[in-house]
Amino acid sequence: MELQMILEHIEKTDSYKRFGKVERVVGLLIEARGPESRIGEVCYIHTKLEDQRIMAEVIGFNEEKVLLMPYSAVSNIAAGCLVEATKKSLSINVGRSLIGKVIDSTGNLLDGTKLPKGLKEYPTEQPPPNPLDRPRIDDVIPVGVKAIDTMLTVGRGQRIGIFAGSGVGKSTLMGMIARNSDADLNVIALIGERGREVKEFIERDLGPEGLKKSIVVVATSDQSALMRIKGAYTATAISEYFRDLGFKVNLMMDSVTRVAMAQREIGLAIGEPPTTKGYTPSVFALLPSLLERTGTSKNGSITAFYTVLVDGDDLNEPIADTTRGILDGHFILDRRLAEKGQFPAINVLQSVSRVMPNIVDTEIMTLIQKARSILAIYQENEELIQIGAYKKGSNPAIDHAIQLQPKILGFLRQEMDEKIDRITALKNLQAILNGSSR
Ligand SMILES: Nc1ncnc2c1ncn2[C@@H]1O[C@H](COP(=O)(O)OP(=O)(O)OP(=O)(O)O)[C@@H](O)[C@H]1O
Ligand SMILES: [Mg+2]
Repeated sequence: MELQMILEHIEKTDSYKRFGKVERVVGLLIEARGPESRIGEVCYIHTKLEDQRIMAEVIGFNEEKVLLMPYSAVSNIAAGCLVEATKKSLSINVGRSLIGKVIDSTGNLLDGTKLPKGLKEYPTEQPPPNPLDRPRIDDVIPVGVKAIDTMLTVGRGQRIGIFAGSGVGKSTLMGMIARNSDADLNVIALIGERGREVKEFIERDLGPEGLKKSIVVVATSDQSALMRIKGAYTATAISEYFRDLGFKVNLMMDSVTRVAMAQREIGLAIGEPPTTKGYTPSVFALLPSLLERTGTSKNGSITAFYTVLVDGDDLNEPIADTTRGILDGHFILDRRLAEKGQFPAINVLQSVSRVMPNIVDTEIMTLIQKARSILAIYQENEELIQIGAYKKGSNPAIDHAIQLQPKILGFLRQEMDEKIDRITALKNLQAILNGSSR
């Protein structure tokens, strides 16, 4: 019986290596005649240098021609170079011994040393979990940032967008969440950052304490568009691997906008039409397929934080708009708050955790709504109050807000290295709100 199966297997096995030939190179795009392959397949291009082969990926077809893009820089490629199909899409090696390490998009250690032993091969492209197999989000995951843990509670397996311009505290916030949260493991994807920023993030924001329970995937801005996209896939795949093992994983991706920009580069190179803001249709196909992979599955959970870059305060920019529609919540980092030294600069009134009402009890929900309403009343009347046009005593709700708003803002402020648990934070907020009702 067994022999029968082996024989059948041998019969089905394709023992040919399939080769094609490079015909044209335009920018980063390589056109080859053959090999027989499919989209997303990894191919090796054998260059004119002996023993050198460059990894590339099939990204499209044009009539009979195969369009490829290399993972690394195109050098030594010439017309006539052989293109070898591998019948596989990109895989990485993953396992527990990767925890505490910094890797690149193809899963190699960034410092150039050898990967630890005992890792398992795992494809970077995976289908999202079946929607019917996804448990509902019903647990709180404390992240150790009090503005979030109280006003914008996150559920285990929730996917959040962090919308912010440059320099308002994204990296610091991600570092705080990585160090303080309740997750078993952080997977952090740094996509399209400058090299200097990567080192800064790992050493300053994450620190040795954070790195100990993290795997960092890095694709800097100088790397090819394909590598930048693969960084997002690789980080997502690593999260999925650990989710399958039952881990509570935190995935943080900075930034998903840079992933979209990389896809736009590839889309334009293969001749897709630019649509909104020059983004090509494939960008809007990539976003949901990538962001749907995280969340809960029957084995574990991936709580995900995706940063989205917004110029000025334009939340209707196409990538911001699309991601906001896919994710289960958005936190807005506000430059005006950062300028006032209000860190973390989360604008709680503009931010939403869509899962929160399902995971916290009504008592806490009432408390939070009270705090929100005080901030809202103050904000509505802020101009009047600031110029002294509001007369004290004319409206009890405004008087109340004037008294409490600074205390609530004070409560929401948190130094980078300050750690506070959720229950204490909630008690502190309650004390502020109660203190005034006397
Ligand atoms: N919780 C905080 N407490 C005090 N200061 C903070 C806090 N968070 C951020 N900052 C200040 O804001 C600055 C910018 O923060 P950060 O580097 O995290 O922003 P960023 O959004 O990642 O910036 P970039 O767009 O350049 O990547 C920090 O150097 C720090 O001075
Ligand atoms: Mg940053």
